[in-house]
Amino acid sequence: MGERIAIVDGDITAQRVDAIVNAANNTLLGGSGVDGAIHRVAGPKLLEECQSLGGCETGDAKVTRGYNLPARWVIHTVGPIWSGGGQEEADLLASCYRRCLALASQHLFRTIAFPAISTGAYGFPVELATQIAVKEVVSHLKQDLSIEQVIFVCFNDRTYQDYLAAVGKLDEITHKIPGVN
Ligand code: APR
Repeated sequence: MGERIAIVDGDITAQRVDAIVNAANNTLLGGSGVDGAIHRVAGPKLLEECQSLGGCETGDAKVTRGYNLPARWVIHTVGPIWSGGGQEEADLLASCYRRCLALASQHLFRTIAFPAISTGAYGFPVELATQIAVKEVVSHLKQDLSIEQVIFVCFNDRTYQDYLAAVGKLDEITHKIPGVN
């Protein structure tokens, strides 16, 4: 795994990066989990800006400022709710990562931190979710050198271990990414 992909144990609201990703819901009006934590630290102006966005489709993503967060921007994405795997949940989760990375690239964000989208309240199996996350990030970094680092921020050890395993599984691919060695 190179310096362009990092896996850390910690709180995404403390990450000093260009953008952190929020695992939001379709209303974008806040919630619990990482959504609640980001709104708590960012302050009320984040909700005010979110109220102007008109919600967000599952699998899509929208950008706001970070306000009181150390991160300058927040990319809000809405992951799928796991319902057994037969409702295109894997494709929708992959779309979340692709849309967040596309917005990061478009806005020239150099560093971006992701939580484990959909693996909390939305019940997505962590092992599969981390494999999808790593696969999408690795394929994006291969064709986009503008993003210097993607950080997977884990809030529990199970997630941390699953990300390590996922990167290990794709090791042969990461070695082909410039700067990921
Ligand atoms: N920093 C990093 N990761 C966190 C933090 C934090 N401060 N808080 C929670 N997490 C982790 C959880 O442990 C889980 O691994 O983020 C991952 C995603 O969990 P949720 O926040 O529950 O998000 P998700 O499963 O996508 O469910 C989204 O929950 O909070 C509501 O409004 C949100 O309705 C939406 C739903």
